[in-house]
Amino acid sequence: MFTVSGTELWKWRSRAQAAAVAISIDQFEVDWLLLELSQIDRLTLRLETYKTQPDIRLKLPFEQLQTLWEQRLNQRIPVQYLVGYTHWREFTLKVSPAVLIPRPETELMIDLVLEAVERQPDLANGPWVDLGTGSGAIAIGLAAALPEAQIHAVDLSPKALAIAQANAQTCGLAERITFHAGRWFEPIAHLRGEVRGLISNPPYIPTATIATLQPEVQKHEPHLALDGGADGLKDIRHLVREGSNFLQPQGLWLVEMMAGQGTQVSQLLQQAHYQPIRIVNDLAGRDRFCLAYCA
Ligand SMILES: C[S@@+](CC[C@H](N)C(=O)[O-])C[C@H]1O[C@@H](n2cnc3c(N)ncnc32)[C@H](O)[C@@H]1O
Repeated sequence: MFTVSGTELWKWRSRAQAAAVAISIDQFEVDWLLLELSQIDRLTLRLETYKTQPDIRLKLPFEQLQTLWEQRLNQRIPVQYLVGYTHWREFTLKVSPAVLIPRPETELMIDLVLEAVERQPDLANGPWVDLGTGSGAIAIGLAAALPEAQIHAVDLSPKALAIAQANAQTCGLAERITFHAGRWFEPIAHLRGEVRGLISNPPYIPTATIATLQPEVQKHEPHLALDGGADGLKDIRHLVREGSNFLQPQGLWLVEMMAGQGTQVSQLLQQAHYQPIRIVNDLAGRDRFCLAYCA
């Protein structure tokens, strides 16, 4: 275990926060790093009572903590990649630049699944698929939420799949999830017509928009996870079209999308005869999810 004096840490924290603010990084990120990598808890941090402690325990040498923060500022590497994990729902998930950092708003998809299953309990048994699993977040969330379901997780990236498998293992849910390498529905051809729920957070950002994203995303997150083709809807169109071949009648189709895509996605679903169709807003009131049932 490594230590640093409270005074020294307090001075560093103040400098680190000022440097963050100067380049429009949220100063709370300094605290995120301290909460993850030191013994200090949230209240102690807020009240600054650690200042007078002679020795604060750290998980790594103080110099290394400073280096991580410099990488955050200078290279714009997300803090989650710097520490190697993030928190999502009740899970702590390993992340690396091979996977998209699972976002808090995506957590809502599991609540939407739970609501749907409450209304239609027969969905709770049988196969569910997470297409484009990345870190495995959605598949792991589904496995925990639906104890009777068999979860299938697909990703084109072998490196992402390895991380998803490791995460399922540490969450104690590896036996509940079957992992498949390949393109969307290709590796799950045997589930045609049987899927109870198809859940996906696919790439949905228009190709030209990627260059305008914040450097943390544009430079460090995998473009395979972001790039949804010229209008951002290339993969969603495929999930609409093929989804109806894979879902059982009344099976649930639930996809995350970019704010502003709601009307187009619901038109695609109408054309493919899904119904009913519901656009769901995130907590900020933006149309971010589309939920529909297979005819
Ligand atoms: C936006 S990320 C979502 C990751 C994770 N589900 C989440 O919500 O954090 C999209 C994922 O789709 C995967 N992907 C992209 N194209 C794919 C394809 N053709 N077939 C399967 N997976 C694909 C990417 O590798 C990436 O992991």
